[in-house]
Amino acid sequence: MKKLVVFASGSGSNFQAIIDAVRQKKLNVEIAGLITNRDGIGAIERAIKNRIPVNVINETDEQLFKRKLADQLKKWQPDLIVLAGFLKKIPAEIVNDFPNKIINIHPALLPKFGGKGFYGLRVHEAVINSGEKTSGCTVHYVNNEYDRGQILEQKEVPVYSTDSPESLAKRVLKAEHELLPSVIKKLFTQTN
Ligand code: GRF
Repeated sequence: MKKLVVFASGSGSNFQAIIDAVRQKKLNVEIAGLITNRDGIGAIERAIKNRIPVNVINETDEQLFKRKLADQLKKWQPDLIVLAGFLKKIPAEIVNDFPNKIINIHPALLPKFGGKGFYGLRVHEAVINSGEKTSGCTVHYVNNEYDRGQILEQKEVPVYSTDSPESLAKRVLKAEHELLPSVIKKLFTQTN
């Protein structure tokens, strides 16, 4: 069976969407483990609850961070790495070691509203301030530039004049939970 490793730094609702898709047999993959750079986050609780191994790699020393990451990935041997709200840049060596095997979900329609600093509510704030009538989410391959890898798929949602960054975030997140498992499924179907 194909193996997936998920990276997350937050609540892990996208991670949960993957777990649910596996449990409901919509996605025929094994989640080999969760890698996080933060302790005490929701994603870790979700992993424990679902008996998914967790490795917290929070070294501030970049070399050490990279080494620990590489060691863990060597053990887990993922066919695909999914960044689901991982708020740290993946070291270039790791990106190079996994060509077209790392994907990220971003809460806007890239190439707009992406890049360094565009995360969390800031993204939705920027979308609202720019007067866009449509937003959404993007799943893309990860390369060495923030949010600039090849776009795989997007899902749109409307932006209402009454939206706050929070209300828009909620609508986009719901779309993320549908898009991410479906893209993973497509990627595995293509390589099977
Ligand atoms: C999502 O909005 C995702 O697009 C972004 O970080 C957020 C993670 O949310 N990269 P969650 O932890 O999956 O709930």
